[in-house]
This record gives sequence, structure tokens and C-alpha cells, in this order.
Amino acid sequence: MAKPNIYQQVDVQCISEKYPIYIGNHLLSDHTLLQRYVAGSQVLIVTNKTIAPLYLDNVKQAFAGIQCNDLILPDGEAYKNQQSLTTIYDTLVNHHHHRDTTLIALGGGVIGDITGFAAATYQRGVAFIQLPTTILAQVDASVGGKTAINHPQGKNIIGSFHQPQAVLIDLQTLTTLPTREFRAGLAEIIKYALLVGGDFLNLLNTVLADGFTVKTPQLGDLIAQCCRIKANFVQVDEREETGERALLNLGHTFAHALEAITNYKRWLHGEAVAIGLYCAALLSYQLGHIQKSTLELVNSLLSAAKLPRRIPKDIDLSGLQALMFNDKKIKNKMLRFVLIKAPGNCYLDASVTTDCLHHVLKSAVEGETNEC
Ligand SMILES: NC(=O)c1ccc[n+]([C@@H]2O[C@H](COP(=O)([O-])OP(=O)(O)OC[C@H]3O[C@@H](n4cnc5c(N)ncnc54)[C@H](O)[C@@H]3O)[C@@H](O)[C@H]2O)c1
Repeated sequence: MAKPNIYQQVDVQCISEKYPIYIGNHLLSDHTLLQRYVAGSQVLIVTNKTIAPLYLDNVKQAFAGIQCNDLILPDGEAYKNQQSLTTIYDTLVNHHHHRDTTLIALGGGVIGDITGFAAATYQRGVAFIQLPTTILAQVDASVGGKTAINHPQGKNIIGSFHQPQAVLIDLQTLTTLPTREFRAGLAEIIKYALLVGGDFLNLLNTVLADGFTVKTPQLGDLIAQCCRIKANFVQVDEREETGERALLNLGHTFAHALEAITNYKRWLHGEAVAIGLYCAALLSYQLGHIQKSTLELVNSLLSAAKLPRRIPKDIDLSGLQALMFNDKKIKNKMLRFVLIKAPGNCYLDASVTTDCLHHVLKSAVEGETNEC
């Protein structure tokens, strides 16, 4: 068996706790590391039916000496719901898990979010560990303590903040990830590049131009840099109170509505984020904040990652706009958009009118002349 190797560590310092993110190879086989973050004598590993045959046995071996239960959920965003949550609670109750149990999320962002929310609420909060196995979960969903399930009317609208004990990012898990999922994760990396600009944007631009795959030598470094960027946003505004953390939602107001209007079935989350990033750039352009060249840059980054950018013609734009008002970033009944002034300079804007929004949505439809 290959030797576990920690490549980088990023620490997240929140108000009440500090936890490490380890980035490396074969970390799911590092029993000592896994055991270090389990304080009690019970664990529940939550995963899904795609990931279980690949990695569950490996992780279970680390807990051979204690009570280790597992729960294999169906696969998909559609199952990030109340019913799956109840199944987790039922498993915990039926196996007599106490307050010192530890939940282990083994999977992508869906498993991470739902397991984290179960951990946040079971017996008023128990410990959990994130073992993210998609690039999207490694750079984003597993970091920062946002946990949630979806409601049929809106994404992630039932949730809480609950930080994990640790995040173990095993880069080897990405070798089994389907290409479409890998590309979807790149949307969140592009989001970070637009938020911070500078060297990170330049590096990503180069890597994307060369064809970003799981074999890209800079993969581990880019993932570690994303974790660091996200940690910096989380540390200054853990509960999204001052607005700093809300900047991480660049493109997401559009994306969440696109996902909801298609019943979470048409796009992967990252693909919806890609269209959302283009819409956010188009909105920034139409409001006069950015030059055409910046809109073109956003378009070319997304295009190099082979991600969608346009709203398909069959989407009902009025319905889409109505769903945007289910967004969690609404304040005083006004939607707040993250807009771009330049790469590395984004801000929250609560003054976008419904007319302006409608115009942008229309312009973002495939085949419209306002495209770049
Ligand atoms: N909490 C947060 O801060 C946050 C941030 C971003 C996204 N999210 C949430 O994350 C979710 C999206 O996460 P995702 O893109 O990881 O989707 P996902 O969890 O659905 O995983 C994508 C697919 O890949 C499969 N898979 C996962 N790892 C695999 C592997 N190593 N090999 C083979 N197949 C594998 C899964 O079974 C699934 O079919 C959304 O629900 C989104 O709302 C949360």
C-alpha cells in the first residue's frame, strides 16, 4: 500500500476553534491521522453508493477498534434533503450514538453538507470530520463550516454553521472522479481567481491554457491555495455577518436559481456556478464596472475549463428571476449581488433593479448579441 504523504497544511482559525486542513496523497489510508480527530469511541461514516465501493473499507479500517457504523445514501443533489437527514438521525439513534460520537463525511459536497448539518443538530451538536473526494468539495464545500440541506423551493435554505474537527484532502481520490465532475470543480477555483486576482489568477490562467486535469503538476498547490483563500474569508467573517464572507457567493445567486428551476437535475453545481460567474461578470459589465476585456477574461477562463457560460433558451427567465428572491443574501427585501470591479476587487451591491437584472438575464441567453 502506498505511503500516506501530507503535502501541505492550512489552518483555519475561527472565533471559537481552530482546525487543520491536510492536503496530501493516500491520506484515507493514514489511520493515525484519521484516529487523531476522533475523541470518543463511536463513529458514523456517511457516504453514498458511488463512493462506498471505492473508499469506505479503507476508512473503516482506521476505526476497527471502536464502534464504527456506516450509512450509504443514494447519490445525487436531489438527496440532499430532509429524508436523507432523517435517515442519518435514525442510524445514530438506532446505534445508540452519544454526544461524544464523531460523524465522518466521506464524499463530495452533498455528503459533506448533509453530514455536517446532521452533526450540527444531533444532540445539539457533535463532532465531524470532512473527507472530501471531489475537487469542488476539496477547494470549497469542506472548508468553512457551512452545512445545509435543500428545500424544494430553494437550495441550502435549511442549515447552520458547524466547523469540522479536521479536513483531510486525499488528492488520490480525484483519480476516480469523472471528468465532468472535475471540470465542474474548476468553476469554484475560477471564482477564487476572480476574487483575489494577482498571481493566483495568472497561475490558473496558465494551467487552464495547458489543459487542467488531475495530472496537472500544480494540482495540489492550487487546491492548497484555494483552501487558504477560503480560510482567509471565513476567518474574518465566520457567520457571514460583515459581508466579507458573502463575497464567496460570487455567481451563486444566479447559480442557485438555475439549479432550482431545473430541479437540481440539469447541471452539476459547478456548472451552474460557471453560468452564474458569467452572469455576474455580464451584470458588472452592463453596470459599467468592468471593461469588455474583463468580461472576455471571465468567458475565456470558463471556456478553457470547458464549462457552460450561457443560459439555455428554454429557461423561463421570469421564473428564474423569481427564484433568485429565495436567495439567502436578501437584506431588506433587496437582492445583494457580488459584483466585479476588477479581478481581486469584488463587492456586494444591493442596488440592482429588477429591470436591470431582467436585462442581464436576457443578454446571457445563448445566441444573444450581447455575448462576448
Ligand atoms: N458548504 C459549502 O460551503 C459549500 C460550498 C460549495 C458547494 N457546496 C455544496 O456542494 C454540493 C456539490 O458538491 P460536489 O460537486 O462535490 O457534488 P457531489 O457531492 O454530488 O459529488 C459529485 C459526484 O461525484 C461522485 N464522487 C464524489 N467523489 C468521487 C470520487 N472520488 N470518485 C468518483 N466519484 C466521486 C459523487 O458520488 C457524485 O455523483 C452542492 O450541494 C453545493 O451546494 C457547499
